[in-house]
Amino acid sequence: MLQSPRKFVTPFTKCVSDLNWRLTGLIIPLVLFITFFSLHYSSSTSSNGFSAFYPVQQFLFNLPFKFISEEDPVVSKDELLRSKIAVCLVGGARRFELTGPSIIEMVLKEYPNSDVFLHSPLDKDTFKFSLLKFAPNVAAVRIFHPQPLPENESYVRVLTAHNSPNGIQGLLQYFNLVEGCLTMIKSHQQKKNFTYDWIIRTRVDGYWNAPLGSENFVPGKYLVPAGSSYGGLNDRLGIGDLRTSTVALSRLSLVPNLDSAGFNNLNSEAAFKAQLTTLNVSHVAKRLPFCVVSDRRYDFPPGRFGVPVAALSSPGPLSGAKCRPCREVCEGLCAETVMDSVEKVWSWTHWENGALQLCDAHDAWESGWEKNFDRLAGKKFAAARKRIQSMKMEECVKDFVQLRKRSAHWSAPLVDEICALGLNPP
Ligand SMILES: *[C@@H]1O[C@H](CO)[C@@H](O)[C@H](O)[C@H]1NC(C)=O
Ligand SMILES: *[C@@H]1O[C@H](CO)[C@@H](O)[C@H](O)[C@H]1NC(C)=O
Ligand SMILES: *[C@@H]1O[C@H](CO)[C@@H](O)[C@H](O)[C@H]1NC(C)=O
Repeated sequence: MLQSPRKFVTPFTKCVSDLNWRLTGLIIPLVLFITFFSLHYSSSTSSNGFSAFYPVQQFLFNLPFKFISEEDPVVSKDELLRSKIAVCLVGGARRFELTGPSIIEMVLKEYPNSDVFLHSPLDKDTFKFSLLKFAPNVAAVRIFHPQPLPENESYVRVLTAHNSPNGIQGLLQYFNLVEGCLTMIKSHQQKKNFTYDWIIRTRVDGYWNAPLGSENFVPGKYLVPAGSSYGGLNDRLGIGDLRTSTVALSRLSLVPNLDSAGFNNLNSEAAFKAQLTTLNVSHVAKRLPFCVVSDRRYDFPPGRFGVPVAALSSPGPLSGAKCRPCREVCEGLCAETVMDSVEKVWSWTHWENGALQLCDAHDAWESGWEKNFDRLAGKKFAAARKRIQSMKMEECVKDFVQLRKRSAHWSAPLVDEICALGLNPP
């Protein structure tokens, strides 16, 4: 965050020459004040003299001067609110009673013109998507009976089963989910004769604790979350315009390109990175306020290539790190020590300034997690969780029928089948 002193003095002195002479009466004492302040502090703080500049810098930033910024160009919130945005939601519903309301609140309602595209395999948790009847706009829903995908030599050469819970088949299923969402978006565009300006791809198991900011829409570049990069690029969320998103979401059909380019033994993240570089799409990494809610168990403390699991209550931003609603067992100096031993290019995530509180996730979610969740997530999210927990067949069917009415395209098993699978298991 802190810039070197030279950086702020340069635009500052440049400003002086532009200013009306009457202001120099203010400027000269100010420069003297800065000089005094920095000398005084750099002699008294030997370890980090720069910290002395913080109050001065804060003060300078409050002055009405335009400081030079080397940031990527961004789009204003107003412009985004007028843009066409598709939100691609992929994955199994899992703990959607916890994550769904946060996605609706922090992503969909932040961009209320956006259209949802849901692509998900049918399982016992699918009925939880009934909460999507509260989403502002739903363009298309595709829920399908999962089928094994053919594995040919191209896939076997390029991909590795290592670290993928369901091997190469698991990767192909995931790539198919992501690319299928792009297919749904393209077909909707064709039918409606328009194109989307932006595509937000996110997972249905993401829990958001703050709104998705407009600084994450970077023209011409593909945005990925910082950290959790597993030797490639974090692929737990992505935002881009139509061109970059088309490359980023074509996960299955670009595998042959990676094969011809000579890539092999790639995990999901490495394949994702190779895909962008092979097709000349540059990326930008930023910290984003969501974590991926997971029931999986991980050793604690994590080893060098282990997975740190964050408490859902962590202030974040967690940029898609794994999380669960636990009672945190490790924060501050403890989190620092743990994260220092985790490999930077693997599961590491930003932990600075108390952003990360860790769970001991070696066992199942602790009993009483519901109370813990309700307390930290607030009344609104707690109500949605309870709605799903106590949901009856009739209510599920009613909500799903409502969702179907609101959605322009619908491809799914019978509503009764979806609801019964979760609520009246055979
Ligand atoms: C593997 O299958 C994909 C999709 O069906 C196809 O595009 C690709 O050409 C195939 N590769 C080989 C080596 O058969
Ligand atoms: C689609 O939109 C374009 C311009 O936006 C228009 O020229 C064209 O006629 C439209 N096509 C149809 C089939 O409506
Ligand atoms: C990417 O850029 C390189 C070098 O500029 C060029 O040779 C290659 O054809 C480009 N590839 C694509 C898919 O645009």
